[in-house]
Amino acid sequence: MHALRWGLAAVAAGVAVAVLWVTAPNGETGPAPSSVGGPFTLVAHTGETVTEADFLDKPTVYYFGFTYCPDVCPMGLQSLARALQIADLDAGDVNSVFVSVDPERDTPEAMASYVSADVFPPGLVGLTGNEEQVAAAAQAFRVYYQRVDTPESAADYLIDHSSILYLMDAQGRFVEPFTHADAPEDIAAGLTRLLAGS
Ligand code: NI
Repeated sequence: MHALRWGLAAVAAGVAVAVLWVTAPNGETGPAPSSVGGPFTLVAHTGETVTEADFLDKPTVYYFGFTYCPDVCPMGLQSLARALQIADLDAGDVNSVFVSVDPERDTPEAMASYVSADVFPPGLVGLTGNEEQVAAAAQAFRVYYQRVDTPESAADYLIDHSSILYLMDAQGRFVEPFTHADAPEDIAAGLTRLLAGS
């Protein structure tokens, strides 16, 4: 559904990294804090209201998608799970967060059932919210999503969306993007770099 879109989004994210890499007055170089990520208020699969501050205890990988996604989201989350295994990391080292872009169907209850799948990252946190909350979070992460009606299918509609794993450090700063199509070995190397730099 979104095979064409994620390619463009990945390119856009790459450009954002290149353009927004800045040198601070003290000479330290790093991604501009405003490039990707920012304040959000969402509802966790536990029913708790959470913000970005709840994920600043350790590095975090954010991925935006939806539970009805037939292929790309499960593939992205399984690649992340495999990458964590390869890098010998678990939920104690890295937060794995799946943010819904389908708030209409992805209730906290639906997210709770989805994130518990064995093939997904250990401790995967599902976040959803109302339309405004989800839109604000997606905007903060430069995530594209668009409802596509599919009356011929049982799902009624799908969500065309960018498919990017956003690696963020423990200060909530964007470090590096991957896509669902990247090799788990490459994502694992990115996670190892992320941990080394945090
Ligand atoms: Ni998807």
